[in-house]
Amino acid sequence: MTQTYDHPEMPKQWVKGFVPTLNGTGSMFLVLDDYAKEFIEYSGNSGTPAAEIGCAYGIATIGALENGATVTACDMEPRHLQILRERTPENLRANLTTKVGKLPDIDLPDNTFGSLLCSRVLHFLYGDDVEKSVAKMYRWLKPGGRLFLVADTPYGIFRNFIPVFEERLANGARWPGEIEEPDHYLPFAVPDKSKGPQFLNLLCPDQLTRTAEEAGFVVERADFIARPDFSGWGHLDGRENSGLVAIKPV
Ligand SMILES: C[S@@+](CC[C@H](N)C(=O)[O-])C[C@H]1O[C@@H](n2cnc3c(N)ncnc32)[C@H](O)[C@@H]1O
Repeated sequence: MTQTYDHPEMPKQWVKGFVPTLNGTGSMFLVLDDYAKEFIEYSGNSGTPAAEIGCAYGIATIGALENGATVTACDMEPRHLQILRERTPENLRANLTTKVGKLPDIDLPDNTFGSLLCSRVLHFLYGDDVEKSVAKMYRWLKPGGRLFLVADTPYGIFRNFIPVFEERLANGARWPGEIEEPDHYLPFAVPDKSKGPQFLNLLCPDQLTRTAEEAGFVVERADFIARPDFSGWGHLDGRENSGLVAIKPV
């Protein structure tokens, strides 16, 4: 990959490999997981347009463009999309469309995309909005199109929340990962709590699978994702993120 991370408007990486967003929605990860890699690989070879929702500065979008894809990249933060456009190699810019918008309200044309990646965005939404968003993704994909989802789980940096999550799960909660003021559950002190998200909905593979199936997808695989690059933030057990690949039936 030819991507560089020295754009003047991109914040400094306080922790190597994590580029902070400009709107307090965490960081863009520079180490791609297998779901993002598969999106890049598949989108470059599918011969159909790809979409990424919550692309930040576009590490996966640029990867897909470099692999031959045509990509519609969306984000709620216009400054991220501006940086993405400037970071995109000039010869690939004609294959990139950017669109500012926020899930679940954003809309894209129906039956248009062969692949769609939404990585580490759904956990910012309440359960109802996760469902509305994934139902829209189903509409936007062509029959046979592939959905790639990645989300944060309670087993990552918000690990002090695990007992609450597991108790809610045992009691049959539909969205056991919904937390107000999530910084309260971090295993370290946060200097400025107002800068981070005020709400999270941490999602495990089971919640991703249920949501995708209820929207009409056939789930190909859903699993935890190990993020050994989180090691500076305490004990890890290999369940730091969750991922899903699903297909819209033909
Ligand atoms: C944690 S970053 C993830 C960046 C990248 N996809 C990754 O996995 O590293 C979240 C990104 O999603 C965007 N975002 C958060 N909530 C969103 C929403 N409801 N609709 C659209 N974009 C959203 C943020 O602006 C940010 O760029």
